[in-house]
Amino acid sequence: MTPLIVLVGPMGVGKSTVGQLLAERLGVGYRDTDDDIVAAQGRSIAEIFVDEGESAFRAIEKQAVRTALAEHKGVLALGGGAVLDADTRALLAGERVVYLSMGVEEAVKRTGRNVARPLLAVNPRKQWRRLMEARRHLYEEVATAVVATDGRTPEEVTRSALDALEMKQA
Ligand SMILES: Nc1ncnc2c1ncn2[C@@H]1O[C@H](COP(=O)(O)OP(=O)(O)OP(=O)(O)O)[C@@H](O)[C@H]1O
Ligand SMILES: [Mg+2]
Repeated sequence: MTPLIVLVGPMGVGKSTVGQLLAERLGVGYRDTDDDIVAAQGRSIAEIFVDEGESAFRAIEKQAVRTALAEHKGVLALGGGAVLDADTRALLAGERVVYLSMGVEEAVKRTGRNVARPLLAVNPRKQWRRLMEARRHLYEEVATAVVATDGRTPEEVTRSALDALEMKQA
């Protein structure tokens, strides 16, 4: 069992929003590895980061991605940092992976008015620039399609993703 579409991209880019729209349009289920982790651990991602550190979180996340890839056949969104793990990137080979991208200005706008983001607590613009530089090539490495989201609505992004994958709506 393998997902129809896997979504990757930085936090706040719209993976959950677009993922749910894609699932609706395709008439399949939506799953999110961050939600799986929160449910299994009984605490938030931010809490796991604080309690155990990033590398322990990445190990938990790696297992969650492996399980979800094996179990889920709808649309699957991964956590923003999941691609940092080489084993996870290897697992994504052969999957239909969409990288939702955005520029730094859009990123600051999107996440500015949002919940606790452990990696963006201070100087968000500089943190974003650093984060994008470190991760962009990893997202590109696993992606079969890249969809830019800057200045576009979730509906527009959803349409572009379906077009890029040459998939028809249900
Ligand atoms: N195309 C868009 N244009 C404007 N705002 C958007 C767009 N897509 C999502 N948003 C908003 O940006 C915020 C983050 O979206 P969402 O939670 O879907 O991102 P995410 O990639 O799932 O983030 P996370 O990595 O934290 O799970 C939400 O407030 C959402 O409503
Ligand atoms: Mg999400």
